[in-house]
Amino acid sequence: MTDDSSFDEMRRTARRRLPRGLFDYIDRGVGDERALASLRERLGAVEIVPRVLRANSARSITCNLFGDICGAPFVIAPTAMAGLIEHDGEIAVARAATRLGIPICLSTQSVISVERLRDAVPDATVWMQLYLWEDLDLSAALMRRAEASGVRVLAMTVDTPYGARKEWNLRSGFGMPFRISRSSVTDVLLRPGWFLKAVVPSLLGGGLPTLENYPREMRPRLLGRATDPRVALRGNLSWDDVAWVRDHWKGHLILKGVLSPDDALKAAECGADGIVVSSHGARNLDAAPAPIDALPDIAGVAGERMTVLSDSGVRRGLDVLRYQIRGAEAVMIGRLPLWALAAGGERGVAAALAVLRQEYIEALDFTGAGIAAAG
Ligand SMILES: Cc1cc2nc3c(=O)[nH]c(=O)nc-3n(C[C@H](O)[C@H](O)[C@H](O)COP(=O)(O)O)c2cc1C
Repeated sequence: MTDDSSFDEMRRTARRRLPRGLFDYIDRGVGDERALASLRERLGAVEIVPRVLRANSARSITCNLFGDICGAPFVIAPTAMAGLIEHDGEIAVARAATRLGIPICLSTQSVISVERLRDAVPDATVWMQLYLWEDLDLSAALMRRAEASGVRVLAMTVDTPYGARKEWNLRSGFGMPFRISRSSVTDVLLRPGWFLKAVVPSLLGGGLPTLENYPREMRPRLLGRATDPRVALRGNLSWDDVAWVRDHWKGHLILKGVLSPDDALKAAECGADGIVVSSHGARNLDAAPAPIDALPDIAGVAGERMTVLSDSGVRRGLDVLRYQIRGAEAVMIGRLPLWALAAGGERGVAAALAVLRQEYIEALDFTGAGIAAAG
């Protein structure tokens, strides 16, 4: 365990190694980044009154999520284009997660396909995140592919009617497709190490990185055409769509991106098995409340009926416990494994997860398992 595994240090290393456009895509929020600032502030403000003389060396940190015993109460959050940090980045993250016994939730917009992840890491617990596409038949086909690949938990993202406008990405040109300009090309040229690790292996394999979960002929590409309208995010996403997904998915269904108790109740009525109380890492709505504040009311109304997970802003093991004492069974982690991947590849992710686990154990031990909370 070294200082290199602290979130800030990994983030600094990632900043040095990645093109600025990619770094910003991962790091930043939207608008004036008020939601981003407040989610960290509110999370950090949660104090835990320690209860003393309650050492319990027999306590377990495992957690049962949808029938799978996880090595710790964390799940790797779905993050689009993680495979652009390094070639096959999602595989590296999955290997590290599997070593710790925690699930990885693969994004619809991952660079590698769910089949390739399954083949590369057969013992991984893979969840699949679903961005519903305009063409529902194509989404149904993706769900069938996920099921055939052994996925039992589908996380349908409900807080993203379309990709949020990210000003710095518009400026830097980073995205799919990548906008070529003098500054965007310079940005890449300044990071030849990244280009060698992330892009050259794909080129040697016959092409640029793309999003492999998309139907072959419609895959968004780093260079070239814009997204095919049939696989654009479903703009008029509604509860009818949730009902449609429920009808078409036999496994466990989670709705990701719920921040209101009413929506949580509706999710339960629609037959969801779980929710993720999340502000999408403050990447969508700059007025979104910090999930840590929204969580207690939601857990109060829905915790008995569904598995309640939460995410956004987790940087340390103490944050995991903060979410748990506010009502979450487990948390998702988004940026943390990405910085670890950029800083140290698969070993970097494994080290960061080991540190998170150790910090979580210390948080339990030093609080007497977190009995009371304020903040
Ligand atoms: C680079 C990046 C890409 C993301 N892509 C997706 C995605 O494809 N689908 C999704 O539901 N959430 C996506 N998210 C949100 C994460 O799943 C998660 O909710 C968020 O990152 C949690 O906050 P944290 O990064 O502070 O841990 C993305 C987040 C990041 C940082």
